[in-house]
Amino acid sequence: MKILVSGGCGFIGSNFVKQTLAEHPGDEIVNLDLLTYAGNPDNLAEVETDFADRYRLVRGDVCAMQTVLPLMGEAEVVVHFAAESHVDRSIKDAATFVRTNVLGTQVMLEAARQSWGDDASRRFVYVSTDEVYGALPLDDPRSFAEDWPLDPRSPYSASKAGADLLAQAFYHTHGLPVIVTRSCNNYGPNQFPEKLIPLMILNAVSGRELPIYGDGLYVRDWIHVEDVCRATDFVLRQGETGQVYNLGTGAQRANLDVIHQLIALVADRLGRDASEIGRLIRHVADRPGHDRRYAIDNSKLLSLGFEPRWNFEEGLRHTVDWYLDNPVWCERATSASYQEYYRRMYENR
Ligand code: TYD
Repeated sequence: MKILVSGGCGFIGSNFVKQTLAEHPGDEIVNLDLLTYAGNPDNLAEVETDFADRYRLVRGDVCAMQTVLPLMGEAEVVVHFAAESHVDRSIKDAATFVRTNVLGTQVMLEAARQSWGDDASRRFVYVSTDEVYGALPLDDPRSFAEDWPLDPRSPYSASKAGADLLAQAFYHTHGLPVIVTRSCNNYGPNQFPEKLIPLMILNAVSGRELPIYGDGLYVRDWIHVEDVCRATDFVLRQGETGQVYNLGTGAQRANLDVIHQLIALVADRLGRDASEIGRLIRHVADRPGHDRRYAIDNSKLLSLGFEPRWNFEEGLRHTVDWYLDNPVWCERATSASYQEYYRRMYENR
C-alpha cells in the first residue's frame, strides 16, 4: 500500500511509521510534516537509512492545498495524525488549534475527495481522541462507547471534535471512505515532554518540582503508543468505512497514582530514594476546565479480534527506561523553546 501519513514526525505518527515499515514490507510511506515544535525528525532518523527506498519526508503544511493535493493523488491510504495536541497550549492560544486541526483536516479531506473520485478501495483514517466525548464524574460507572454524544470541553478537544465531525460529513455527503479512531491518552517512547508522563520522568531525574494540577485525582485512560499504532493499523486494514473505533486497553489511573509509580521506577533505575523524589511533588493551580475523568469502552475494537500487548505497569517501566536511555533526544526536546514554554506555564503557578 502507498500510505500518506501526516504528522509522521510527531509522537504517535513516528511510532506508526516505524511500525508499519517494519511489519509491512510491501508498504511505502510519504510523511507530510511541518516540523513544528513537536515534530522531530530525530524520531525517524533510523527510518531514513533503514527504509530509504520505501520512505520519504515532505516538509509541508496540511493547510496548504497545493502541497497536499499532489501527495494525495499518489496515496491509497491516508492516516491523518497531524494536529496540535496539548490542552494547556490550546487554553493560551486556540487559533493555532482551529487552523491546524479543523482547517488542516478540511484540506486533507477535500484533497482526498478531489483525487480519489469514487474509488471505494481507498481509506482515509482520521485520528481523533476520546476527549471529544467530554468528561465523566469519578463515581460514574459508565464509559464512553462510540455512540456517546460529543461534548468537548477544551479548545483542543473542540477543534478535534470539529474535524471528527467533518470527516464523518465527508463520508456521508461525498462517500469518502473515512474511518475515525478515538484513542485514549497515549504514552511511550518519543512523546514530547510537555505531556504528563515524560514531564514527570524528566523532572524526577533532574530534581525539578513535580507539578500536579489541582488535587491530582483526575483519571486518564492510558494506552501504550505501540498498541495504539497496532490498533490503528488493525482498523485501517479490517475496519469498515463510515465507522468510529475507540482505541483503548482499559488502563484507567488517577494522575497521582501514575506519578507515584513513575517516582518508584525512576528511583529504582537510578538507585535513589523514592521518598526523596516524592518530596518534589507540588500541587499547583488547576487547569481551567480540567476534565475529571476519561474512560472509554473498547469492546468494539476487541470484538474485531484486536489484542493489546502492553499492560500499563510494564509499559510504564519500558517508557521510563526509554527516557533514561535516550539523553540526547531528551536534551534536544527540552532545549531553549521548551524551557521558555515551561517558564510560561509553570512559573508562579
Ligand atoms: P496531559 O498529558 O496534558 O494529557 P490530557 O490533558 O490530554 O489528558 O495531562 C494528563 C493529565 O495530567 C491531566 O489530568 C492533566 C495532568 N497534568 C498535571 O497534573 N501536571 C502536568 O504538569 C501536566 C502536563 C498534566
